[in-house]
Parts: sequence; C-alpha cells; structure tokens
Amino acid sequence: MNYNDISTIESTYASGAVGRRPVALVRAKGARLWDSEGNEYIDCAAAQGWANVGHSHPAVTAAIQAQAETLVASQESSYNDVRARWMEELAAVLQPRLNWTGCQIHPSNSGTEANEAAIKLARQLTGRTGLVAAMKGFHGRTMGSLSLTWNKKYRQPFEPLVPDVTHVPYNNIEAMSEAVTDNTAAVVIEIVQGEGGVYPGDTDYFQALRRLCTERGTLLVIDEIQTGVGRTGRWLACEHHGLSPDIVTLGKSIGGGLPMGVTAWRRELGKFKAGTHGSTFGGNPLACAASRAVLQIMAEERLPERSAELGNWLAADLRALPTDQIREVRGLGLMIGVELRGKVTPILQQLMERGVWALPAGLNVLRLLPPLVIEQADLRRVVAAIGDTL
Ligand SMILES: Cc1ncc(COP(=O)(O)O)c(C=O)c1O
Repeated sequence: MNYNDISTIESTYASGAVGRRPVALVRAKGARLWDSEGNEYIDCAAAQGWANVGHSHPAVTAAIQAQAETLVASQESSYNDVRARWMEELAAVLQPRLNWTGCQIHPSNSGTEANEAAIKLARQLTGRTGLVAAMKGFHGRTMGSLSLTWNKKYRQPFEPLVPDVTHVPYNNIEAMSEAVTDNTAAVVIEIVQGEGGVYPGDTDYFQALRRLCTERGTLLVIDEIQTGVGRTGRWLACEHHGLSPDIVTLGKSIGGGLPMGVTAWRRELGKFKAGTHGSTFGGNPLACAASRAVLQIMAEERLPERSAELGNWLAADLRALPTDQIREVRGLGLMIGVELRGKVTPILQQLMERGVWALPAGLNVLRLLPPLVIEQADLRRVVAAIGDTL
C-alpha cells in the first residue's frame, strides 16, 4: 500500500485523538525506520521512547516467536513459568539498584496503567487520599494518571479528575514541603521530566524529597516509564542520585515493543489486598518473554553504559554547533533535550526531510531518544542534520 491509500483509510476510521505526521512507517530495524515510499530515517525517537534495544532485535523477535507458539496469554489467576522467571530477573535488576531488600511486582499493559496501580496501591497502603506531582510532569492519560499529568491541554477537557491532587514547581523542595500534608499518600515524580521539556532534577532535591516523604509517612513514587531501563546511562535514573524510592513505575522499553507496564515496590510496604486490582492481559507470558529478552540484551550489550558514553558525546557535539538558535542542551545519557529559540515543529519537519525522525517536548524543545544500540556514525549524521536545519 502507498501513503495515500494508508492515510486515507486511517483518516476515515481513526478516532481523531492522535495527530499524525504525513508519513506511513512500515518497517524498522535497529535504529532505522522506513516509510511506505521507501524513505529511510534515523530513529531519534525510539518509537516514542520504547525501542531502547532497537527495532526487531533478533533476541526479542526469537523470544516472542517461541512464546507465541507456546502460550500467548494465560489467566491472571494462574501461575506461569515465564512470568515467574521474569519477576525473578526483574527483581534482581531493581533490588540492588534501588537499595531494596525485596520487592513486589505488579505487571500491566502500559505506562499509564503502571501509574494507576501506583496510585491505588499508595492509597490502599497509607489510608490517605492526597497526591502531589510536579508542574510540567507527565504520567499518562487515563483518569488517575491524567490527574497527575500537569499540562492543561491534556487535563482540562476531561475534568473533574481524581480529587486531592496538587501540582508544585519541579526541583523546588520548599514548594514540595508546603504541599505534602498528613493526608498525602504519595508524591509522584520523574527524575528527568520527559514530555515537559527534558528537565533533569538535582541530587540534593531528590535526597531532600526522600527525607521529606519518610518524615511525613508519604510514599515516594518515581515514574521511570521514559527514563527506565538504560535510557539515561544507568539502568534506572534513580541511580544517578542514589535514590531509594518506595514505588517505581516502568513502561515503554521494558516490554521490548510489546505493551507492558510495571509497578514495583519495596517488600516491607506489603501487598495489594487480594482482588483489589488486576487486568486480563497484565503479566501475559508473551510480554514477559519479550521483557526477559530486553533485560538480557541490556546486560549483555552493556546498553546503559553505551547510553552514558554516546549521550555525553552527543550533548557535547550539539553544544558545539555553530548556531545561535540553541538556547540550551540538557539531559542524561541518550535522553537529550535541545531547547531552541524558536518553535520545534518546523524543525522536526525539516529534519524528516533530512532523514532524521525526532520528537518534540513542549513547544520549543527538540527531544532526542534514539535506540541505545544506535551507531555513533548515525548520531554524527543527526548532529549534522540538526546543524544544517538550524
Ligand atoms: C514519564 C511518563 N509516564 C507515563 C507515560 C504514559 O505511558 P503510556 O503512554 O504507555 O501510557 C509516559 C508516556 O510518554 C511517560 O513519558
């Protein structure tokens, strides 16, 4: 099918909720994308941040294929061998990095669902209702997570949302201290605000936030849905700050392209009361098999380390570009925001014409989230394309 056929059919039936670029992507491999007309792009979006191990990684493909022939989905209410192994392997990743002695894991099907589970768990465990999140934060679009998301554009059309949610300026401990009360069940926050403009928080802030939450009996929930598994140069962005949260949420890259969300928490907190949360597909063996492959690839190919090295190099090269159109380059690892003096939308379009697929973050930030397997030569081409465009 060509672009006209594809876009005509999709536009006829689509809900209208999602804006689309005038391109039909039909194939991807590693850090490359191809459209229906045969044009090739360097993927600097990792398909909205999920393709950390690259597209169609042979180990992920093989795991999916083998599991699809065995058992795709099983009852949540039965045990399963693949889910058991996956939980054990994920716990082995999380526990030492978050300084947990044990953990509980609740699998779901998306990032927003992972945050829904965190909200419900925090309310159930604390018996409190209040939630505090940060301005410019993004946590998803279902009603609970949407209540934590800050941007009015996403929230206002659907109000009233979940009550007792307060938003405070990011990276500001005084504002947080004023907002957290004896009715606050949880603070939910990102280590690097992704959608909000690629803003990393400071170590002092996160350490003070940890102390504040402990003092007030509030659970600290870190949303690592975008920063998680390898993206920022560590397996988890919490590691940059020696931060030990109570609950962590994962999504995007953890499923290797299959829909998956994870809510994990320190074992001392306890468990959900039986029967109070669940979903038909949560923890299905197909997604668990893909996720096991992701964890293995991350370790074997040392992708967090690669992300740190390539990220440092990329940020430095972007800062060195001879243009007055860049206000700031910021980020961690291969999660980079280039704040422009002008709007980002026309720049994204021109980059596509130069064979680079990037993302926006807000109105004037160009966001780069390439697959962590990307070659340095490709990143050189990306820097040159950005330079030429600006
Ligand atoms: C930090 C963060 N939290 C939550 C979400 C929501 O994830 P999903 O789109 O899988 O529901 C996103 C998605 O962009 C995100 O970046």
